[in-house]
Amino acid sequence: MATSSCIILGTGAYAPARILTNDELSKTVETSDEWIITRSGIRERHIAAPGENTSDMAVTAAKAALADAKLTAADIDLLVVATITPDLLMPATACFVQHKLGVPTQAACFDLNAACSGFIYALDTVSALLLSGRYKRALVIGAEKLSAIVDWQDRATCMLFGDGAGEVVLGVSDQPGVGIIGTKLGAAGANVDLLYIPKGGSNAPATPESIAAGDHFMKMKGKEVFKLAVRAMDESARDILEQHGLRADQIGLVIPHQANLRIIEAVSQYLELPMDRFFVNVDRYGNTSSASVPIALDEARKAGRIKPGDITLLVAFGAGLTYGSALIRW
Ligand code: UT7
Repeated sequence: MATSSCIILGTGAYAPARILTNDELSKTVETSDEWIITRSGIRERHIAAPGENTSDMAVTAAKAALADAKLTAADIDLLVVATITPDLLMPATACFVQHKLGVPTQAACFDLNAACSGFIYALDTVSALLLSGRYKRALVIGAEKLSAIVDWQDRATCMLFGDGAGEVVLGVSDQPGVGIIGTKLGAAGANVDLLYIPKGGSNAPATPESIAAGDHFMKMKGKEVFKLAVRAMDESARDILEQHGLRADQIGLVIPHQANLRIIEAVSQYLELPMDRFFVNVDRYGNTSSASVPIALDEARKAGRIKPGDITLLVAFGAGLTYGSALIRW
């Protein structure tokens, strides 16, 4: 029987100052504020400044999370960045964050890619490592500069995404049954071609032709992703609830991946849990991939939406198609 548990000691988030509204976007691609709001619920998104990288956003959010936890960078011995937009293909963005933040050189630092499910994948991985006793305190980061991989001429994708970072500081408590009480991950790799970047990887290194064709930007089959997303989030939520003998109405707050308000509304219907139990900020950030769940978690905590004793459900899906859920008791 577990005698200790992995708990959240602090949370932090950051989004760049520049806000791109739907109206502004409709001046560069053929779209409208009304179309984007109706189809996605998104009103605006944050866009990184020139020269502002994924690691910079991660560092700002990390400072907030460490301050919230009343800890410093010197207390961290494990640092994981979930991202699909690393500063460079190599080395890991986690190493840039470590250096900029002043995390000790004894710390283990690595990146993890599970697209929009990345933060939940990282929670699962890091909580297991902490409970193994090999590490004491971890920074778990979801950070993305999606503006760098979006085709700004493709109206069907560019309106969806935004930049930002969210994170948690994790530690171990002697009190059993609190903190991360469960995680559940999955993937359906048959769907890789629904959301991907065709070129620029090791199978197709960049050429002048591939760059001219825009093959280094994200491609998405939106309708198919939408349907699979609803099913994956619903099933992942049901599975983890069943595994822990919980009913949906025992969840104080669901923090879903913020991809599309209609996806969240569909999951709310399937789970028969009213929308006031779902935290929503997709209107202000768009989809920030692996940053979306930790940004929402930080906002929900700081808005007083989570009380001691509450159970929170995190649930996400992403390219891959990956999916995952986590239960946290506060
Ligand atoms: O983290 C995972 C990331 N991805 C997602 O979560 C995406 C999931 N999918 C979606 O959110 C939705 O599929 C979208 C919001 C992307 C699109 O909504 P939809 O209701 O599935 O629209 P659609 O793609 O079927 O497009 C309907 C029409 C098309 O025109 P025709 O072919 O019917 O004449 C599109 O060309 O809307 C057109 N369209 C637009 N019109 C105005 C597509 N994008 C736009 C746009 N403005 N931005």
